[in-house]
Amino acid sequence: MTTTQTQASTDALMQEVDVHLVVRRFDPEVDSRPRWQEYTVQQKPTDTVLAALHTVKWTQDGSLSFRRSCAHGVCGSDAMLINGRNRLSCVTLIKDVGTELRIEPVRGLPVIKDLIVDMEPFFAQYRQVMPWLVNDDDPGFRERRQSPEERARFDDTTKCILCGACSTSCPVYWAGGDYLGPAAIVAAHRFIFDSRDRAAAERLDILNQRGGVWRCRTSFNCTDACPRSIAVTEAIEEVKRAIVADRV
Ligand code: SF4
Ligand code: F3S
Ligand code: FES
Repeated sequence: MTTTQTQASTDALMQEVDVHLVVRRFDPEVDSRPRWQEYTVQQKPTDTVLAALHTVKWTQDGSLSFRRSCAHGVCGSDAMLINGRNRLSCVTLIKDVGTELRIEPVRGLPVIKDLIVDMEPFFAQYRQVMPWLVNDDDPGFRERRQSPEERARFDDTTKCILCGACSTSCPVYWAGGDYLGPAAIVAAHRFIFDSRDRAAAERLDILNQRGGVWRCRTSFNCTDACPRSIAVTEAIEEVKRAIVADRV
């Protein structure tokens, strides 16, 4: 690409364009069923989908409801379906998904209003796997030391921000029932393979039960959906292997 062409494509990214949003809305105080509402806003291609939602909310329709906090892919509060795929709106650029946006709440959790779902069932599943370090040994005045190799075993799953994009993209999770879901298994993995933890056997027992890892059908939607690029399906497989081998 010549310098002139590079400058032209940089200029194009700085020009505002029309972005058309079709948003699935539901207000239980007004609506008997969900409905679609359309908006058009002006954004730069390098803006995020969250920026477009903010423009709608702040300049066109203050009743549009969605969650967000950090706006930088850290807090995990703004997972939503954007053009059919679970994504965080704050790290999804318009230039990557196009100017025709179809936005819906994630699936598999009850909708409270518009794009806001009730996360309580998700966090209840998360709590079931004891997502905290269990170790009553007294380390005295020393740290609980760990080698780089020991740390590497669960490094990937420490990156989880509990956004729920994985669980709410899983067909088994959509079916309801007692499946704990991939996010809870990722949280369990993070402690099961931590050499400082002493409750791996207890967590493996929980995940060996009806709602545990054996409900996973290895469909990989969870891995594709994870905004932190965690190898979710691989983590689930590691937990399955630990249960079968009866050791971590
Ligand atoms: Fe979100 Fe990924 Fe954690 Fe699932 S594993 S909750 S998709 S960060
Ligand atoms: Fe569901 Fe992921 Fe397993 S999408 S079926 S938890 S591989
Ligand atoms: Fe925090 Fe998107 S608003 S991850």
